Amino acid sequence: MVLLETKELSKYFGGLRALRDLSIEVEAGEIRGVIGPNGAGKTTLFNVISGVYKPSSGSVYFKNERVSAMSPSEIAARGAVRTFQRDAVIHDFSVLRNVAVARHLHTGQTLLKTLFGNIGRLQRQDEEKAEEILEFVGLYDLRHELAANLAHGFQRVLGIAIALATEPVLLMLDEPVAGMNPTETAHMTGVIDKLHKERGMTIMLVEHDMKTVMGICERITVIDFGEKLAEGPPKEIKNDAKVVEAYLGAEDFVAQR
Ligand SMILES: Nc1ncnc2c1ncn2[C@@H]1O[C@H](COP(=O)(O)OP(=O)(O)O)[C@@H](O)[C@H]1O
Ligand SMILES: [Mg+2]
Repeated sequence: MVLLETKELSKYFGGLRALRDLSIEVEAGEIRGVIGPNGAGKTTLFNVISGVYKPSSGSVYFKNERVSAMSPSEIAARGAVRTFQRDAVIHDFSVLRNVAVARHLHTGQTLLKTLFGNIGRLQRQDEEKAEEILEFVGLYDLRHELAANLAHGFQRVLGIAIALATEPVLLMLDEPVAGMNPTETAHMTGVIDKLHKERGMTIMLVEHDMKTVMGICERITVIDFGEKLAEGPPKEIKNDAKVVEAYLGAEDFVAQR
């Protein structure tokens, strides 16, 4: 079953065409890598799918529903969720509270009520769900720590835990291991792999680190200048002449072939 479909998606920023008639299909349960040189349009693609930007032309369908005219919150409510680099984490809340609050908001509390103090009245079930999520992502032992005190890698995992509190169907991860050391990278990669294998979650992964992408993705879409350059399983992509050419000079790619 196709979960996400973009049809001839284009996005202009002034005269710059960041996406050019980009059509992709992502199957339910798939883990899809999205790669391409810097400035290729990967983040723009996520921003258009999640409703942060409206496409200049073309459409996005999620669960067979046209979502490209909807607001980001309407799209997130349908289960297409992207994570952001930092902003989701509230630094002076505990790890547990960060996830419990996200859960609380997701299950119907209005933002206004939250701002006026009701945030203190988290339901026990919000905390229980948050504990379960933290267990899953390997942050349970750190649940009472202030988020601000977490190492960079753990903060990024917390960002995923917060996203999980909203019960995504499609999770879009934009460079989730960027800036991480090898231990942190292994932890994050393990979480992504588990989400896919144990929860059957559909994941789109934009990642610069070829080893990570090639290691966990079933199919890879290569974007260059906003256009689809190639698509297929990692083995094919690695040996695709067009892809190798687009990456010439990107030594990390060539080195890992
Ligand atoms: N908000 C924006 N305003 C103007 N130009 C943008 C904006 N966002 C992205 N771009 C441009 O669109 C192109 C694609 O950017 P981006 O999607 O961030 O690439 P990637 O994530 O693949 O590195 C780049 O040329 C970038 O400068
Ligand atoms: Mg980007």
